[in-house]
Amino acid sequence: MILELRGITKSYAAGGAPIVALAGVDFTLAEGEFVTVIGSNGAGKTSLLNVIAGGVRPDRGRVYLRGCDVTAWPAHRRAHWIGRVFQDPCQGTAVHLTIAENLALARRKGRRGLRLALGRSRRSSLRDELARLGVGLEGRLGESVARLSGGERQAVTVLMATLSHPSVLLLDEPTAALDPANAERVLALTERLVRDGEIATLMVTHRMDQALSMGDRLLMLHRGRVLLDASAGQKRALGIEGLVSLFHRAGCAEDELLLTSTPAAPACNT
Ligand SMILES: Nc1ncnc2c1ncn2[C@@H]1O[C@H](COP(=O)(O)OP(=O)(O)OP(=O)(O)O)[C@@H](O)[C@H]1O
Ligand SMILES: [Mg+2]
Repeated sequence: MILELRGITKSYAAGGAPIVALAGVDFTLAEGEFVTVIGSNGAGKTSLLNVIAGGVRPDRGRVYLRGCDVTAWPAHRRAHWIGRVFQDPCQGTAVHLTIAENLALARRKGRRGLRLALGRSRRSSLRDELARLGVGLEGRLGESVARLSGGERQAVTVLMATLSHPSVLLLDEPTAALDPANAERVLALTERLVRDGEIATLMVTHRMDQALSMGDRLLMLHRGRVLLDASAGQKRALGIEGLVSLFHRAGCAEDELLLTSTPAAPACNT
């Protein structure tokens, strides 16, 4: 098992009563498995990814990566095992560096002595990686990332997150800030990079259709609990109607059914 979560709970103290973000989550992710994660706003999706990445320490429960108990490890100690893509295209790249420098950094992630000087062969292999994205960026290696559109930037971010061959890739609504055409493109290349690299992946999405059509498994969170952990066959049988009725059965209010994306981030500060 590449990732194992056992009895994860996490509450936040927010003035009055504590807010329960995760209320006893058990979850395992096998080598190369691609799991989509769905749930209404506040269901605990981002908290779950934060607990895996180490940015949030659970109140109770254990996190195992490749069989190793990493619960007490800070995020930077797990970083070489984890690739991460956020909703905001500005977050994944260093805006003042070129595309080539960003990719070189990503490739050397977790290793000491960062050197950004790129030899000719390194540059040509990065160009090949970019060409594989199919978004026409291979001729723009020397350009600043600040010049890229949100979709182009998110494509580079996904590539960066997979370049260091992480054990687990975590994507949190990676296409929420993109228009539909760019979203499709980024999702298609995500699927390809994940499949080619055989990277175990958890992808949060607010779109039920995406959650059903992508990946091998679907996890539905509701109020900090796993409401559904469906295999590929089960999710095919469920369809959107099945998902909606599960929400109803869980006592989910009608307005919670709107699996809305959090608002798009403001334009990148270049
Ligand atoms: N740092 C924090 N301080 C206080 N409360 C928090 C914090 N982070 C998350 N929460 C609360 O924990 C609950 C779960 O939040 P989380 O961000 O995990 O939800 P989510 O499923 O990612 O929602 P969304 O779809 O809106 O992104 C929410 O009620 C949220 O307000
Ligand atoms: Mg979230």
